[in-house]
Amino acid sequence: MLTRTSLRKITTLRALRAKTADWRHDGARIALVPTMGALHDGHLSLVTLAKKRAERVVVSIFVNPTQFAEGEDLSRYPRDEAGDLKKLRALDVDVVWAPSVKVMYGDTCATTVVPAGAARDLEGAFRPEHFAGVATVCCKLFNQVAPDIAVFGEKDYQQLCVIKQLVRDLDLSVKIVGGKTLRARDGLALSSRNQYLTGPERKIAPTLCDILKTTAKRAKEGARISSLEDKAARDLVKAGFTKIDYVAVRDAETLGPYKAGTKRRGRVLAAAWLGKTRLIDNCAV
Ligand code: PAF
Repeated sequence: MLTRTSLRKITTLRALRAKTADWRHDGARIALVPTMGALHDGHLSLVTLAKKRAERVVVSIFVNPTQFAEGEDLSRYPRDEAGDLKKLRALDVDVVWAPSVKVMYGDTCATTVVPAGAARDLEGAFRPEHFAGVATVCCKLFNQVAPDIAVFGEKDYQQLCVIKQLVRDLDLSVKIVGGKTLRARDGLALSSRNQYLTGPERKIAPTLCDILKTTAKRAKEGARISSLEDKAARDLVKAGFTKIDYVAVRDAETLGPYKAGTKRRGRVLAAAWLGKTRLIDNCAV
């Protein structure tokens, strides 16, 4: 019988390893939900999924500086540890893993995991060091927690593909589970960055999801991919998006070119700006 304990915030690797060793000794399966805190219902749905798959759940809330380039939003990235702990306590989470930057990287960390393949294009083209930061911190999180499963949101679809590739390529013994994107009633994908949007921008934001859906439908019907991508970008500008980084129809697994009419699944992915806020979203073909 599993004894429920109340939520514990852990900040040292030694304490984390002692806790997870106890659980493993009791035969419990462990799930990790990696986040950067500022938890919203989208994150909480990943936690709920993790709880269905494992007896013990660790949620990490480490804001990872190495995945932000200079000039990105690291300094204004939302933080709300007290709020996060309250939400996780209500969900009966066992441990919140909240290391400092010093605990995570020490003073001498000189190793970086640099993913290619699925990481190369799209976000990788616009944020060249981003996925090296993500892959490195996720490798460290997997080694720190040693979970049986780790849950990542489909909202960051390319990240999910990169992490699956990382686990495959480095023979890491963790199963990666993708959780569905949670959306507001009007279709906007929940994201910590939505809170940067002004009132008028928030009204425009859901058209991103609408345009992706239309693009996915037309891709499935066999329309020419490059024309579809161009049209989607034009429609986003018409709707009020101020800059389009990309709209791309890709193979859902490799993120290479999508071949309509084959058995391979497709995915439409986009990143676009509303003023100072960059939104990303994606949709199955
Ligand atoms: O998706 C995120 O919040 C981050 O990229 C992750 C996976 C927690 C790594 O810092």
